Amino acid sequence: MRCTVFGTGYLGATHAACMAELGHDVLGVDIDPGKIAKLEAGEVPFFEPGLSEVLRRNLECGRLRFTTSYAEAADFADIHFIGVGTPQKSGEFAADLSQLHAVVDALAPLLTRPTLIVGKSTVPVGTAEQLAERARSAAPAGDDVEVAWNPEFLREGYAVQDTLAPDRLVVGVDPSRGGRAEATLRDFYACQIAEGVPFLVTNIATAELVKAAANAFLATKISFINAVAQVCEASGADVVELADALGYDARIGRRFLNAGLGFGGGCLPKDIRAFMARAGELGANNVLHLLREVDGINMGRRTTMVEMTKEACGGSLLGARIAVLGAAFKPDSDDVRDSPALNVAGQLQLQGAAVTVFDPKAMENSRRLFPTLTYAADIPEACRGADAVLVLTEWQDFKELDPEEISAAVRARTVLDGRNCLDAQRWRSHGWRYRGMGR
Ligand code: UDX
Repeated sequence: MRCTVFGTGYLGATHAACMAELGHDVLGVDIDPGKIAKLEAGEVPFFEPGLSEVLRRNLECGRLRFTTSYAEAADFADIHFIGVGTPQKSGEFAADLSQLHAVVDALAPLLTRPTLIVGKSTVPVGTAEQLAERARSAAPAGDDVEVAWNPEFLREGYAVQDTLAPDRLVVGVDPSRGGRAEATLRDFYACQIAEGVPFLVTNIATAELVKAAANAFLATKISFINAVAQVCEASGADVVELADALGYDARIGRRFLNAGLGFGGGCLPKDIRAFMARAGELGANNVLHLLREVDGINMGRRTTMVEMTKEACGGSLLGARIAVLGAAFKPDSDDVRDSPALNVAGQLQLQGAAVTVFDPKAMENSRRLFPTLTYAADIPEACRGADAVLVLTEWQDFKELDPEEISAAVRARTVLDGRNCLDAQRWRSHGWRYRGMGR
């Protein structure tokens, strides 16, 4: 089938390339000519394993093209996916929907035939209904324009596999419109459905909320284990062993129970804040209060790491040399949006420490966001003369570090493990003072 995808950021570019991979004819649309030129040349503007291969393969066989022209897009297909960003509004918790509005406002006047607009972005519940009104009132096709919601659950680092073989497809449709949107999307995703991917049809509000609730649940799981980590720390228990033991209960599960520095990135933090803001507007205050705690516990982990570092340096950070290993918000990513690691590095610097950062993939993005930090070319350079080595993103390279090898570089053998990813025994046996978070 033919479709367009508006927005060629993380979500849109992945969706466009993967839908072409499934056999559809796809036109990716963005207002940024620089992004479009890169994608047309087969270059992915961010780090995502496997995506450039899918992109190039489908560009070459002609199933995938890109454009900045909305007129071309309106003419090309009758199914339009929207995958633009919904960032946090500056100074508030609510989501900024201006990119979504801009797409609908520019596209609607060009819609002369019956059309299905399918939102994929993460939005506050109630957004789709507003967009539908906005689109219908401006489109020549009027009431023949329908809006459905099909949230995306992809994780960075696994974006291609999560899109080609998702855990589930959720499709929110307006039941009063006779089932055309459901039928179209069933056809569109037919090959994934045939492979056994559950296809769940809900009303639009439910589909919008599934995504917000999924991210809120994951964030809550992480903050839960981090709250328990604090008790472990105070009582001599080990949160890693505890999480392993909890995880055997199938009702709980071991995933997303890694205690440490907490969650960051371009999604979980801003999505729970947007959910809080929307729940508050709707008078659903329980979610507001619950997620406020989740967010507070999470941000508190960063302060805890700064305090641990201060303590390790004898009570003051003034003049201390700190090696920070890790800058990306999680391993196998170059994304530094709301990165706990860089946040800690910045706080340490503000308190007078000389901080040197190394990350295997995220150096360029870190330099852009935090130009005042010092960056090293490799691990030994970052550790040179350090009073403490902080592991803040659990890259495989860091997990495999040889404590003996970097002993010569540092001033004091102190390692603070912000992700509980190192073998404490091994480090201690090489004469290091090791501290994890909650063990
Ligand atoms: C997340 C959701 O997982 C995904 O479904 C949604 O579509 C977008 O948001 P992503 O932002 O790629 O995906 O990262 P994720 O792998 O979920 O990790 C988020 C953060 O939580 C990272 O900073 C990670 O380090 C942290 N985390 C994760 C923990 O602190 N402990 C854990 O046990 C798991």
